[in-house]
Amino acid sequence: MAARLPPLRRFKPEAAELDQWGAERWGPNVPGPPSTPPPFPFVTSLVTLSAASRICVSFSVDFPGSGHLCWASGVSLLLETMAFVTRQFVRSLASSSSVTGPAASAKKILIKHVTVIGGGLMGAGVTQVAASTGHTVVLVDQTDEILAKSKKGIEESLRRVVKKKFAENPQAGDEFIKKTMSNISLSTDAASVVHSTDLVIEAIVENQKLKNELFRRLDKFAAERTIFVSNTSSLQITDLANSTTRQDRFGGLHFFNPVPMMNLVEVIKTPMTSQKTFESLMDFSKALGKTPVTCKDSPGFVVNRLLVPYLMEAIRMHERGDASKEDIDIAMKLGSGYPMGPFELLDYVGLDTTKFIVDGWHEMDSKNPFFQPSQLLNKLVEEKKFGRKTGEGFYKYK
Ligand code: NAI
Repeated sequence: MAARLPPLRRFKPEAAELDQWGAERWGPNVPGPPSTPPPFPFVTSLVTLSAASRICVSFSVDFPGSGHLCWASGVSLLLETMAFVTRQFVRSLASSSSVTGPAASAKKILIKHVTVIGGGLMGAGVTQVAASTGHTVVLVDQTDEILAKSKKGIEESLRRVVKKKFAENPQAGDEFIKKTMSNISLSTDAASVVHSTDLVIEAIVENQKLKNELFRRLDKFAAERTIFVSNTSSLQITDLANSTTRQDRFGGLHFFNPVPMMNLVEVIKTPMTSQKTFESLMDFSKALGKTPVTCKDSPGFVVNRLLVPYLMEAIRMHERGDASKEDIDIAMKLGSGYPMGPFELLDYVGLDTTKFIVDGWHEMDSKNPFFQPSQLLNKLVEEKKFGRKTGEGFYKYK
């Protein structure tokens, strides 16, 4: 019955690590301490029993956001029943201190009022969807002219939606458009409208410096509770969050083009995004009628990380002369059931956008074979052949 005092150790709050540590010392059945640190220094003293019939006395201190400090000593004893009771106790402690529990959910922000910055392709689409699902939206862009164009685009897009959705009842369709448009207001001054918003969705041009400047400025004017998100396709959300003082209320919401038609939203959680923020964003995505998937703050998130290397591989295949672009497109449509071939899709997405993404990733990780640039793509972009939007890319559209 030799008592043993292991040295003071510090743990990251990972459940698996703690369980492993416990299993190594006391046998596999000893429950670990709460795996998520509570929002205040938290001291527990536990008496636990292992399957190997030893009693373990441990004192632990959890520090918010930093880690877990644990001291333990053990003596052998045959008291298996106490182990069961202790496990139940620790489980209840873990769930009461976990930020994923019901108490944390109750603290989620119900997002009703949204500010969208950038009234281009994506910003206008997000505005339309948010307003048509009962949210009030302020759409912000640089000039009244751009905003007028965005508003006109939203109205036209709503008419297309209504034509299908309210084919039997055009009057209800008109009401729907009127109600949706009444939920939208316009502004050229972001700083003056963010003070009372629940969520700021940034959808300006894909330029890190401009995005950082915008977030830094809005951070000073937005309410304390306001969540910030970026719709960036290729930049790191963490880098954008670091330009603010609200890293815990900062995440990514990556919509797809065209927003009213595409049902997916990637919800990006950085290591600093709080669970409360994350859950609020998941709920908001569902309230928009979208299906959210979650992804760490990794290059391209889920869809672009898989899609862009595939598109680049198609270009390389064409560059090597393995197959023509027409045959590659036919092959992927008929052989894989894709609605568009890779070259048609490249022209639709924009060759400039694809090049921008690949160049950014190459800069980040130059050895990764999936992130290698292509001479042919660079040449077409240099010639301003960006795809459908300029009338020519891999194909001509004039
Ligand atoms: P866009 O060029 O159509 O629109 C950008 C808008 O932002 C323009 O109207 C511009 O006037 C405005 N803007 C620029 N700086 C501003 C500022 N400081 N304040 C207010 N407004 C400002 O761009 P798009 O395609 O809508 O993309 C926006 C963001 O969404 C980018 O980060 C892009 O990577 C991302 N994205 C784009 C997708 C696409 O298929 N185009 C898909 C998913 C994400």
